[in-house]
Amino acid sequence: MISELTVDACERVAELHIQNLRTRYVGYVGQRMLLLYYSNIVDSVGGKCFVADIDGSIEGFVCGIWDQDAVRAGLRKRMWPSLSFWGAAQLIVKPKSIIRIVRDYLRFEPLALWMKGGYELRPIVVSAKARGTGLATMLLDNLMVHAGSIGYDNVFLYCEVDNWRAKAFYQKTGFIEMSRVLRGGINYSIFERRIETHQPPLVHTGQ
Ligand SMILES: CC(C)(COP(=O)(O)OP(=O)(O)OC[C@H]1O[C@@H](n2cnc3c(N)ncnc32)[C@H](O)[C@@H]1OP(=O)(O)O)[C@@H](O)C(=O)NCCC(=O)NCCS
Repeated sequence: MISELTVDACERVAELHIQNLRTRYVGYVGQRMLLLYYSNIVDSVGGKCFVADIDGSIEGFVCGIWDQDAVRAGLRKRMWPSLSFWGAAQLIVKPKSIIRIVRDYLRFEPLALWMKGGYELRPIVVSAKARGTGLATMLLDNLMVHAGSIGYDNVFLYCEVDNWRAKAFYQKTGFIEMSRVLRGGINYSIFERRIETHQPPLVHTGQ
């Protein structure tokens, strides 16, 4: 079953993120940072997240971000004390990662490449045991409908060029590789998919 992310589910979503994505947020500290990030998405005016539940267990999620500034402002406003605390902890656990986090936060040059306007899928994750079941397609379908329902006519995403399974998934679901970009020493493919029809959301989105 697909539903919107709730605060209660953020812990599991942060766990899925750490377990399945290449991330600079590691261990307990990384999980606290991600928990703050996803809790902010729950009622953000710039992002939306859907989760997939199998027999009461969340086995996948997908997020769409269309207003990075709003997402960032929400984080700054409501979570600054916790963010500072866990950010400081991250500095101790993984000193190098804080440079990138601060750079992203202040929107230094690497983010200029990153700040392509529009509706961005970021990220999609399905647990290892639930892959190949169609869950990822269901999540994606909800996101595409949501993007259309708020007026976008395409969705884009960045994917590491060597993430073969994800690339195969995007290609089979209608995404087209438009270009490539080097960021932080990692090569990314930029994929886009047009939204053909604008339907009402599959689940209530609050938009
Ligand atoms: C990306 C993801 C959500 C896709 O979900 P999924 O359930 O694996 O997707 P599907 O199984 O429907 O589609 C993947 C396709 O890749 C194929 N595939 C599997 N391993 C592959 C590989 N090593 N190389 C190329 N293709 C591969 C599968 O056979 C399948 O195609 P098919 O349906 O025609 O057989 C999931 O793999 C995932 O969570 N990955 C880890 C997180 C991640 O990388 N997210 C994307 C960040 S950009």
